[in-house]
Amino acid sequence: MPNITFTSPIMKKDKTIYAVAGNTATILALAKEHSIPIPFECGDGDCASCLIEVTHLDSKPAMAMTLTEKEKARLKELQMITAEEIEAAEVSDVPPKFRLACQFIPRDEDVMVHFTGTPGGS
Ligand code: FES
Repeated sequence: MPNITFTSPIMKKDKTIYAVAGNTATILALAKEHSIPIPFECGDGDCASCLIEVTHLDSKPAMAMTLTEKEKARLKELQMITAEEIEAAEVSDVPPKFRLACQFIPRDEDVMVHFTGTPGGS
């Protein structure tokens, strides 16, 4: 069961939630459920307003959840991911640093999610 810790300068303190095993909710859906104010607009990978930085906290090897085509395109436009990082995620399961909260479904591992509170900030 993963612990997901949200941190942001716009939050009074960090908040850790426990995602239910097998849950396929995105980080954005979990944030909304727990009143965590990650900015978002489209909710569908088109606007990049939900940009987050993800740090893996587990001692076990990190797992890269597949990036959606929309997520790859938006992150490339923002220059928040390189072709090498995309290949590393897809071939070697090495997670990229930046994700879109509306596209990223956490796996069974502990992660820290940082967001600035500014749409498109990470
Ligand atoms: Fe638009 Fe995530 S809310 S890309």
